[in-house]
Amino acid sequence: MRKLFSKAAITAAVFFVSGSAYAACTSPVAKDDLSEEQVIEIFECIKDELRAGYANSDNPWAKDYLKWGRTASAPAAPGPHGGRFLNTTVNEIGYAEYIKYSDEREDNPMPVGTVIAKEVFGVNKKNKVTKGQLFFMEKVAAGGEADKYGNWVYSVIKSSGKPQKISQKFCHDCHGAFSDQDAMGYPDEDVRLSSN
Ligand code: HEC
Repeated sequence: MRKLFSKAAITAAVFFVSGSAYAACTSPVAKDDLSEEQVIEIFECIKDELRAGYANSDNPWAKDYLKWGRTASAPAAPGPHGGRFLNTTVNEIGYAEYIKYSDEREDNPMPVGTVIAKEVFGVNKKNKVTKGQLFFMEKVAAGGEADKYGNWVYSVIKSSGKPQKISQKFCHDCHGAFSDQDAMGYPDEDVRLSSN
């Protein structure tokens, strides 16, 4: 009886000190050696904690993006976003267009009101699975500040749910290079969910 009691007390103390109900997620191998199944496994491990952090945001998109259309069957492999893993969803206004993955968008831009979300996680050098930010791109009407950036407004929410200050120019300097794709990079071809 005594033993049981002290074990419970220790568990409670650990819980209190760490302030988190989530156990740490560890990758079985180094980041670059992960198979697609293993990427899915580590995502399953970190997912709830990642999303709970984003949900602290008062930006309504941070709660809505999980109900939006999925663009990939699995988190995409590390891309230019700092070698991390990505999971992209698109709201109802833009989804059908997005999943065409068209590269003929010079005269056929995404509809105004499109919002694209991308959740990000990574694996550090000690194989610990790490939480990344939630990225957004919103297509707005011409005639404002965003004219310089292809009528996209970029924003980022930290894994804590706090907004992160970013430079529109920084995001668009890279995204703007995809000029025939209306500045979208699209997920890796291997994991794309598409309409055709
Ligand atoms: C170094 C180049 C680069 C920079 C800088 C960059 N991105 Fe991206 N971004 C990409 C590429 C490539 C993709 C598509 C592949 C992928 O998801 O990695 C992408 C995808 C996205 C997507 C999903 C929509 C899509 O298909 O393009 C969002 C949302 C996004 N980025 C937001 C941002 C925001 C916000 C910033 C600035 C804080 C930013 N990006 C900076 C290269 C970049």
